[in-house]
Amino acid sequence: MMSTVSSPRGARWLTALLAATGCLLPAANAQGYAVDTPDNIRASAKTLAYDMMLFYKGNQSGEIPGILPGPPSDGKGDYYWWEGGALMGTMIDYWHLTGDTTYNDVVTQGILHQVGDRRDFQPLNYTASLGNDDQGFWGMTAMLAAENKFPNPPDDQPQWLALAQAVWATQASPERHDDTCNGGLRWQIPLANNGYDYKNTIANAIFFNIGARLARYTRNETYATWATKQFEWIYNVNYIDHDSWKVYDGGHVGRNCTDINKAQFSYNAATLAQGAAFMYNYTDGSDVWKTRVEKLTEGLFRDFFPENIAFELPCESRHGACTPDMLSFKGYVHRWMATITQVAPFMKDTILPVLKTSAEAAAKQCTGGTTGRVCGFYWSEGAFVDPAVDKTTGAGEAMAVLAAVSSLLIDEADPPATNQTGGISKGDPNAGTGSRGSSDPATPITTADKAGAAICTILLLAGGIAVWVFMNLGD
Ligand SMILES: *[C@@H]1O[C@H](CO)[C@@H](O)[C@H](O)[C@H]1NC(C)=O
Ligand SMILES: *[C@@H]1O[C@H](CO)[C@@H](O)[C@H](O)[C@H]1NC(C)=O
Ligand SMILES: *[C@@H]1O[C@H](CO)[C@@H](O)[C@H](O)[C@H]1NC(C)=O
Ligand SMILES: *[C@@H]1O[C@H](CO)[C@@H](O)[C@H](O)[C@H]1NC(C)=O
Ligand SMILES: *[C@@H]1O[C@H](CO)[C@@H](O)[C@H](O)[C@H]1NC(C)=O
Ligand SMILES: *[C@@H]1O[C@H](CO)[C@@H](O)[C@H](O)[C@H]1NC(C)=O
Repeated sequence: MMSTVSSPRGARWLTALLAATGCLLPAANAQGYAVDTPDNIRASAKTLAYDMMLFYKGNQSGEIPGILPGPPSDGKGDYYWWEGGALMGTMIDYWHLTGDTTYNDVVTQGILHQVGDRRDFQPLNYTASLGNDDQGFWGMTAMLAAENKFPNPPDDQPQWLALAQAVWATQASPERHDDTCNGGLRWQIPLANNGYDYKNTIANAIFFNIGARLARYTRNETYATWATKQFEWIYNVNYIDHDSWKVYDGGHVGRNCTDINKAQFSYNAATLAQGAAFMYNYTDGSDVWKTRVEKLTEGLFRDFFPENIAFELPCESRHGACTPDMLSFKGYVHRWMATITQVAPFMKDTILPVLKTSAEAAAKQCTGGTTGRVCGFYWSEGAFVDPAVDKTTGAGEAMAVLAAVSSLLIDEADPPATNQTGGISKGDPNAGTGSRGSSDPATPITTADKAGAAICTILLLAGGIAVWVFMNLGD
């Protein structure tokens, strides 16, 4: 399963030379970033955050707050709309874990710019290409802001908790649910989009995840009931393998979701595992949720952490095969798994050592570029591999290493707050209920528009991944 590519010796000589001549900046050296003590972790994370934010142009004049350069369909950059939401969440965790407030205003501005006129993360610019997973990624970020007690927006602006509730409510609305496959959300929201006939794991996992967290935060049983139903749907439709607990990508409504695409992506399993941990906490330690957390974690570590280092199974064994979306997944996995240790502390001894080994490998390979500290994606190879081989400028790679390194501080950080344990975000149980559930896009849909968080799904539909999966199995 592991890649057999050996580390380029030239790169090591060069970094050794640069280090010897003092050309490298303090936080990184020939060994990459130092992550051995809390102080070093904070110093490394600060530089990693600085470098990652160089990819974000949203606070410069003429640029759009909240998003990374893109979308690719418009030729504006490599990143889809959802990844801006993922970046904002990464920075909210960065602040929570390190205490560095440098980027808080930029993050608040970015999120608020993307809420849309109905305050439910369906801004008109992006509704034509909107997937439930795209909207959901922003929803998870808003939920995180509430849980982390990220500074509240001004009173006349939408509040974090209410935004998460709005996303949840639009996704729980009857227009988004039908009887095909016995339930579940479709991938795309607009009826005419490619992928409207696909019910995929990530869309449903995120809806489940937000519901589980809203249940814990508000203690409103409605969210818990939905979360349970949603998880059981994903399980019963066999997107989670009942023996191995592998998490698969999805299936089509025309085949009653039995044509399961068995590609595995790390964020699917991690999103489910984290949601299960919140349900475990909400239910005060129920056995059924405990088992789900254990099994999903076991499957995730078995398949995506060979030698305890994060490895994006469906694409990583071939350089350049992971899309910009996929290049960011390891970061969410590290952050979600770190949070599990707080809401399901019985998992701490299982999870923390793995995240530590993986983060050390992540930090070690950040020796590229003219600064000598640019991060690549191939953590388990032990040396920097130029992200240019992936034909991306690297925000996903930078975000993932920042997430892995800053999450090493999880043990010192406050656990996610709830309304009863010091939460300060104002909710609105009716948020999102006046919104359209299934959007009727204002603008005609063009083929180029139809892409999003599950861009991987598009590739899957094209059959590309099947080949990579096959190659992985064959290794
Ligand atoms: C944008 O934010 C960065 C911090 O990420 C800050 O250094 C910079 O001055 C800001 N630019 C503008 C135009 O506000
Ligand atoms: C929508 O697009 C317009 C024109 O490019 C831009 O000014 C605006 O900021 C965009 N809104 C969002 C939410 O991205
Ligand atoms: C579709 O699959 C579900 C299980 O996911 C099953 O209960 C249902 O009977 C199937 N429907 C049809 C029409 O085959
Ligand atoms: C629920 O989470 C809190 C942290 O917020 C933790 O102290 C508590 O032990 C967790 N409950 C269970 C049953 O593990
Ligand atoms: C949170 O708790 C406060 C005080 O108990 C209460 O007034 C408020 O309505 C609660 N908010 C939610 C969303 O439950
Ligand atoms: C609980 O959440 C549901 C769904 O959003 C909402 O309709 C209901 O009013 C909420 N109940 C309370 C007591 O806030």
